[in-house]
Amino acid sequence: MTFILQLQNVTQRFGGVLALDDVSLDIQHGSITGLIGPNGSGKTTAFSVISGFLRPTAGQVFFDGHNITGIPPHEMAQRGVARTFQTPQLFASLTIRETLEVAASMRDKHDGLYNALHTANEIGLRNKLDHLPSELTTADMRLVEIVKAFATGARLVLLDEVFAGLSSTEIDRTAAVIRSFAGEKTFVIIEHRMRAVMALCEHVHVLIYGRLAASGTPCHITNHPEVIAAYLGTEDLAHA
Ligand SMILES: Nc1ncnc2c1ncn2[C@@H]1O[C@H](COP(=O)(O)OP(=O)(O)O)[C@@H](O)[C@H]1O
Ligand SMILES: [Mg+2]
Repeated sequence: MTFILQLQNVTQRFGGVLALDDVSLDIQHGSITGLIGPNGSGKTTAFSVISGFLRPTAGQVFFDGHNITGIPPHEMAQRGVARTFQTPQLFASLTIRETLEVAASMRDKHDGLYNALHTANEIGLRNKLDHLPSELTTADMRLVEIVKAFATGARLVLLDEVFAGLSSTEIDRTAAVIRSFAGEKTFVIIEHRMRAVMALCEHVHVLIYGRLAASGTPCHITNHPEVIAAYLGTEDLAHA
């Protein structure tokens, strides 16, 4: 078993707030892993630590076996880590094609762009390439962000609340795209709702108040007493 990503005893404090509390976890190469937990439990903070936006207060992060703790975001991007944000961060004045050109220019421009355009076509964005982000649905913007991550050459793609605000049809379409690239890419998906993550992920980590409360298969997670207690009243776990 090979791990593309390992967190070892990662702690992140913001003043008096303990956003991540001694978190250790491994992410397997080519997997789709869920990172779930109630709002404010440290999920986005974990992405910021992994992608170099934050240097953790304590602990270490390994990518491809190399200690990358504290390496800045642009260098993490060069190494093959891309993240998306809860609110899509596309340039308002660039068309989708131009956005992909910029992303591809971070690396091997020609191949990156060629592959990104090919992928965009394959996942139903063919007619959207010359549009501005404001002309796209939220679901299409999220797909563009995924293709943009691929265009940078990312091998580890961190998706922050990628299903938020989408209809169940749009969630299915987005999940199908993610699933079709698993193996070639590694995905970590943040959600605070269980259902979509449970359907898509083979492995799930649960953060509650910054602490890793549970890790395992979707079945293990949905039967975990602390997870059930944390979600009680907010999600119908029995049907997740
Ligand atoms: N840059 C920051 N400065 C201060 N506090 C922060 C910062 N980012 C996050 N926090 C706090 O850390 C905790 C975890 O936040 P976050 O990682 O965004 O949670 P989640 O993504 O699980 O909703 C929250 O209490 C939040 O208010
Ligand atoms: Mg968040």
